[in-house]
Amino acid sequence: MTPLDRLQRPLRNLRLSVTDRCNLRCSYCMPEENYVWLPHRDILSFEEIGRLVDVFRELGVTKVRLTGGEPLLRKDLPELVGMLAAKGLDDLALTTTGVLLADQAEALARAGLHRLTVSLDTLDPARFEALSRRARLDRVFAGMEAARAAGLGEGLKIDTVLMRGVNDDEIGALVDFARAQGAELRFIEYMDVGGATRWTPETVVSQAEILRHLEELEGAAPVPIDKSDWAPANRWRLADGSTVGIIASTTAPFCRTCDRARLTADGTFYSCLYATTGLDISAPLRDGASPDELRELLAATWTAREDRGAE
Ligand code: 5AD
Ligand code: SF4
Repeated sequence: MTPLDRLQRPLRNLRLSVTDRCNLRCSYCMPEENYVWLPHRDILSFEEIGRLVDVFRELGVTKVRLTGGEPLLRKDLPELVGMLAAKGLDDLALTTTGVLLADQAEALARAGLHRLTVSLDTLDPARFEALSRRARLDRVFAGMEAARAAGLGEGLKIDTVLMRGVNDDEIGALVDFARAQGAELRFIEYMDVGGATRWTPETVVSQAEILRHLEELEGAAPVPIDKSDWAPANRWRLADGSTVGIIASTTAPFCRTCDRARLTADGTFYSCLYATTGLDISAPLRDGASPDELRELLAATWTAREDRGAE
């Protein structure tokens, strides 16, 4: 049974958070220095995650992305990757700061991770520290190197949130860097979401503006590449054949074709990135609900879904 929501959208993509902790403090996400983290007992075990993913697969999920906080802070993560990889998903990806990647890339690759996305907003060490309050850019570079050495270079993506007056002068440098890495760069429009306490409409660098910059830098207009309706990034080909993606969440939300849901580290199921209330699935899971009962609960949330948070 693969339920559709009220706008006929299937549930195909699951963002699975494995920890709420992070090793950076990006101003747009975790602006404070100190946070109260989830207590250990509330965090789903690998075994519990495995049981839920089996239920999600019955509901239509074929793609899983491990997220955080910073997922590499979760102890023994490669073990979870191995368990999920054995389930035969179409896609098993991970989003990371890259800070701990040098130590873990090899184990993640061996465990069967399909691909990696590294979040990277600047190539300047001082700016990196100002943005994330941690001096770790050298570790991120080392991590990306290790990822390629481990065979995770194929499918490597770099996600950059552009903010006016902060890093919008690095568009060209980031394009060149990604090219040299053999990675696909994706610019993400700054969103008014979560911890983005300093968000204002003026700080958003729009897709249209990014394209103008790229045309100026490359001497030719980027050429749009056809994509499936369900892919969040609009992709463009540059003069030299390399490609760039833009996720225009703010100026051109793609809510109408959003097949994504997320599960927090403590087992709350959210049907939208912007949702503030979710379904606590950990309670029934721990109270001994059967896979069928769990599936019914999750399906009920999904079929009631009308979310168009970004719009
Ligand atoms: N706007 C856009 N993207 C955000 N992210 C977190 N907060 C925001 C925001 N306010 C996402 C980006 C980034 C990753 C770490 O989290 O994808 O690369
Ligand atoms: Fe950590 Fe990502 Fe948030 Fe930065 S944006 S603090 S890297 S979770």
